[in-house]
Amino acid sequence: MEVRTRTWRRRTAAKANPFPVSPRLIAILRRLYESGSSRWLSLLIVLYRPRFAAYGKHFWFDPMGDYTFSTISVGADVQLNGRPCLIASRSRIVIGSHVMFGPGVTIIGGNHRIDVVGRFMTSIREEEKRPEDDHEVAIEDDVSVGTRAVILSGVRIGRGAVVGAGAVVTKSVLPYGTAVGNPARVRRFRWDVDTIIEHERCPYPEDRRLKREDIEAWRSGPGGPTPRQNQPPGNHL
Ligand SMILES: CC(C)(COP(=O)(O)OP(=O)(O)OC[C@H]1O[C@@H](n2cnc3c(N)ncnc32)[C@H](O)[C@@H]1OP(=O)(O)O)[C@@H](O)C(=O)NCCC(=O)NCCS
Repeated sequence: MEVRTRTWRRRTAAKANPFPVSPRLIAILRRLYESGSSRWLSLLIVLYRPRFAAYGKHFWFDPMGDYTFSTISVGADVQLNGRPCLIASRSRIVIGSHVMFGPGVTIIGGNHRIDVVGRFMTSIREEEKRPEDDHEVAIEDDVSVGTRAVILSGVRIGRGAVVGAGAVVTKSVLPYGTAVGNPARVRRFRWDVDTIIEHERCPYPEDRRLKREDIEAWRSGPGGPTPRQNQPPGNHL
């Protein structure tokens, strides 16, 4: 018969629960949950929030989502609703300010290796990944991401852009573009150039406003999302 020592039990418990929570806290959470109030979610937010790399004021996120906390930075006035999945194990996800997500958004900051001959893909370890397998995902200020959109590694969503529901975004989206579909394409811009300039005057100080010549240059380009190597400059965070 196996003799289970105290050390064995301690080690097993530590493995089963990498983030040990005190019984008192569990009791508080259970009481809040059973009372039918949603305050237990607020408590989880308070507990989890410090695990993000950085965050600004009025940052609300669904604590029931999936996050690689330490690789995610978020600005102020951001709402990540409806169980999002934000995963970047070897890159970063940088979200600006005044950003909102619909339910079920996924952001993926990397890819598994799929190029190795003679091995199952599941056998390839994290340490065997190459730098080009993981790229930062950036979402600039004032962006709305529609429900169940998927944003893939290396993408930058430009300031003021809208990502439509269900879009699969594989390339960067120009500022104030509305990107829809799979693969996502910018179907239109929210406003014409003059209106963008007028809009920018209100929320942004002069040194952070987009320049007319830049906006015109991007928009007269090939259209649709910009290639990764030709990103417009961002002012996120
Ligand atoms: C993209 C969106 C913002 C609409 O933007 P819009 O500029 O007003 O676009 P329109 O509705 O005029 O549609 C323009 C074209 O894009 C298409 N389209 C709109 N949304 C689309 C989407 N999500 N996926 C694919 N195509 C879409 C329209 O069918 C239309 O196509 P057509 O020109 O061939 O007729 C909206 O459709 C959307 O997806 N909103 C997200 C809603 C959401 O999830 N909110 C979160 C709530 S908490």
